[in-house]
Amino acid sequence: MKEILKEKGSIYCNSGAWDAFNNEIKRINPSKIFVISDTNTRKSCAPLFLDNYNFNLNPEFLEIPEGETHKNIETCLSLWKELSEKGADRNSLIINLGGGVVTDLGGFVASTFKRGIEFINIPTSLLSMVDASVGGKNGVDLGLIKNQIGVINNPILVLIDTRFLRTLPDNQKTSGYAEMLKHGLIHSKSYWNEIKNLNEIEIEGLEELLWESVLIKNSVITEDPFEKGLRKTLNYGHTLGHAIESYCLDDNEIKPLLHGEAIAIGMVLTTFLSGKLLGFPKDTLEDISSSILKKFEKVTFKSVDIDEIIKLLIYDKKNTNGKILFVLLEDIGIHKINCEVPNNLIIEAFEYYKNYK
Ligand code: GLY
Repeated sequence: MKEILKEKGSIYCNSGAWDAFNNEIKRINPSKIFVISDTNTRKSCAPLFLDNYNFNLNPEFLEIPEGETHKNIETCLSLWKELSEKGADRNSLIINLGGGVVTDLGGFVASTFKRGIEFINIPTSLLSMVDASVGGKNGVDLGLIKNQIGVINNPILVLIDTRFLRTLPDNQKTSGYAEMLKHGLIHSKSYWNEIKNLNEIEIEGLEELLWESVLIKNSVITEDPFEKGLRKTLNYGHTLGHAIESYCLDDNEIKPLLHGEAIAIGMVLTTFLSGKLLGFPKDTLEDISSSILKKFEKVTFKSVDIDEIIKLLIYDKKNTNGKILFVLLEDIGIHKINCEVPNNLIIEAFEYYKNYK
């Protein structure tokens, strides 16, 4: 059985996971159970959930519209109202059944409703399984700016059932794969080498690699749960990646990117910057760029786009005293946090990305 046992936030994957989940619900014996899902997961994931759910209370489904553009305070407001109207009390339980938007937003709704009620994450996307559902970061976007409002608060349990991945379109799988690649880059050359050339992100056979990613994430958040230092490394590629994601959500000419698609670009750019500022080896930069660009379609940024993306960097949550601070790498697995990067190098990094063949 794949499990990480903790006082709060134990993680279970596949065999035995539903038993652990049902036992936990029996233990806390909630007054009511609400399942937050989105329009997709209500349809495609609720049946598997209900087949395995085994408790003598019928769960009530609360549905939100699908997609990052709904990860905002208005969606929370409608959920808080619905919970209130349906008689949720402090002993009610929320189960978040969905991808990163549902687990981030649902965790925030639970953490703030009546000053906080318990919640369980059941991630249904690869991205949420390996990253978003683990570590207790919950929140919403503020306008275009990613995850500006939120709290760190762990679910009582995370249940990973890789059968949910069968419901995912290919681009969603590739998006989650970006976060697995990130775990390799910040933590382990051997894991990077194992996953860098996955041809097909096949669900069968993915369990071991996915679990290794969860173990890496868990080791980081256990050492630094509130992001004082080490946890910042989980933001590798995200400083630029989040700015790119926000910009593309708003721009009419560039199509919106999934989170992992933006982070993949961010990782190529940031590894280039790591080469310039910390001597990251050229051949490894080449390996990373080619592995990522084989899998993720190149996006064309004009210089006006790049200027706007650079402006968005001021909203990054790692910034202090007005300084934009990056996580860079000396090599795979050797990181340095709080690095300042001049804008002219960022423009050079976009040139490198554009010209990469
Ligand atoms: N996704 C980054 C973190 O959990 O810290």
